Amino acid sequence: MERALYGPSGFYRHPDGPAAHFRTSVHATPLFATALLRLLTRVDKALGHPPTIDVVDVGAGRGELLAQLSQQAPAELGQRCVFTAVEVAARPTTLASHIQWRAHIPEFRGLLIANEWLDNVPLDIAIIDAPGSARYVLVDEAGTEHPGPAIGPEDAAWLSRWAPTDAARVELGTTRAKAWQDTISQLRAGVAVAIDYRASGAATLTGFSQGREVAPIPDGSCDITAHVHVESVAAAGIEAGALTSVELSQRAALMDLGITAARPRLDLAAREPLIYMRALAEAGQAAEILDPDGLGAFAWLIQTKELPAKTAASILPTPIPPNTAREQQSTRGRMPG
Ligand SMILES: C[S@@+](CC[C@H](N)C(=O)[O-])C[C@H]1O[C@@H](n2cnc3c(N)ncnc32)[C@H](O)[C@@H]1O
Repeated sequence: MERALYGPSGFYRHPDGPAAHFRTSVHATPLFATALLRLLTRVDKALGHPPTIDVVDVGAGRGELLAQLSQQAPAELGQRCVFTAVEVAARPTTLASHIQWRAHIPEFRGLLIANEWLDNVPLDIAIIDAPGSARYVLVDEAGTEHPGPAIGPEDAAWLSRWAPTDAARVELGTTRAKAWQDTISQLRAGVAVAIDYRASGAATLTGFSQGREVAPIPDGSCDITAHVHVESVAAAGIEAGALTSVELSQRAALMDLGITAARPRLDLAAREPLIYMRALAEAGQAAEILDPDGLGAFAWLIQTKELPAKTAASILPTPIPPNTAREQQSTRGRMPG
């Protein structure tokens, strides 16, 4: 998976970028950036409006989210922001020069966003032959699976802590937990948000190419993704010093940040047809990122460091009970493009 996605001719090194293959909330609408800008504004206030504030996007794709954030930010805030994209792929030539482009997460004070990053952190799969005996699954470039060696001690520890005891095949969350632990280790003060589809124990390894789901064959021709075990990622962040940890659905988070899919009043259509049309289009875009059967079902894991507990509580979106059992159980993954 590592080689297929990030090797010299890996999928994410291709020039076309994620937007050519699937649709994230960033591609769906600039309203997603609007919501994150509101979160950034709260973080800035909690940090006392510092002279500089970091805005880091990990797994930044082609830098689309940072470009939107920097465009939408009011001048006073925008001038204090240091925008940094962290990406394996090369910097796009068209990206505004004030957006920094790096291969590794820097130390940061401010807000870090990781939208659909952790699901692309390579992971191993284990098959459990008998109680206490787990082996890695090996796969060749034609996609055929073979039983491999016994799993190592770190994966064994993850398995015994997090996997259901009756599981026969497990997507091991060790690498994602470690990736988030390293992320939170770089947080000096502020907030880090991971937004992704939550694992529920089912097998989720999937391939994506040119807008369609395909077999996850690790030959560099397609994206390979698997749902994220959010609880173990949250625990790793806390081990790295996160003081507050909140987890909620994207729908709940975006609603708290002021995104609404309410349609404009019909009488506006006659008085201000252009404003009405724009508001109607925005309501449609908001509905897509709030959809409890789609992007709205994604999990937001929000962790903070070095913010007084009261301040952290006041700036974070409030978890609300899912409005339907369906929303709670939804494990919707990557969206076709
Ligand atoms: C699914 S795309 C998400 C793109 C973007 N965040 C969005 O929401 O549209 C995942 C991105 O994470 C990048 N990525 C994966 N692992 C990375 C790592 N360790 N460091 C930097 N970027 C990484 C990939 O190259 C890819 O562009």
